[in-house]
Amino acid sequence: MERRRFLESCAVLGGTAGLATAAAAWADSAPRPYPRARLVDVHGTPVRASALAADTNYLFHYPYASTPCFLLDLGRPVSAAAPLRRENGSTYGWQGGVGPGRGIVAFSAICAHKLVYPTREVSFIRYKAGKSTTGDARVIHCCADHSVYDPAVGGRVVSGPAPQPLAAIVLDYDAASDGLFASGTLGAEQFDAFFAKYEFKLALEYGQGKARLPTGERAVVRELAQYCRQTIDC
Ligand code: FES
Repeated sequence: MERRRFLESCAVLGGTAGLATAAAAWADSAPRPYPRARLVDVHGTPVRASALAADTNYLFHYPYASTPCFLLDLGRPVSAAAPLRRENGSTYGWQGGVGPGRGIVAFSAICAHKLVYPTREVSFIRYKAGKSTTGDARVIHCCADHSVYDPAVGGRVVSGPAPQPLAAIVLDYDAASDGLFASGTLGAEQFDAFFAKYEFKLALEYGQGKARLPTGERAVVRELAQYCRQTIDC
């Protein structure tokens, strides 16, 4: 009798642990939702997906006021990638491109290596359609230590020291208005580490505690060249 009760307990515990593991895996692979923000231009006019120039670096801040993201029209359809792997070994899927040509993608512009990001003064990280010094074309290349990411495959690492892909930004496309919305992230976020590393600089730039304010209902999209005084080429 005691043995049967013990075995039943083990079965229940085993089942619970299995459910917990499955739930953790699901939570790890699902997008992390944030308040939805419409992408707009500097005048507040909604960005039209079909008006984006292909192979051009656009920048917006999401899901926080100070966290930069690249918006790219790769000029060709890109579909969902094979599972991507975070540094901790967990995997997740990526949605692929959106928009009329299914080539519009967005990624956090915070490098997954040492958190280099585009500032008003300079950007060491950017998308390059032509060949970069590593010989790769159509990649996001961080010139700080040469981490190279493929935006057509969910931001996976092509080469360099980055231990994991760039976090992807979930984009929703509204075909009726040709509009774009950001609604979450996929993959390994670096936001906590980013706020910790740049706390002093961000406080000077945004005001105490304001860098971590949510983006709000609208995220302003600019060309990187209009946001940032100098983009480092490599
Ligand atoms: S910070 Fe980007 S490669 Fe090192």
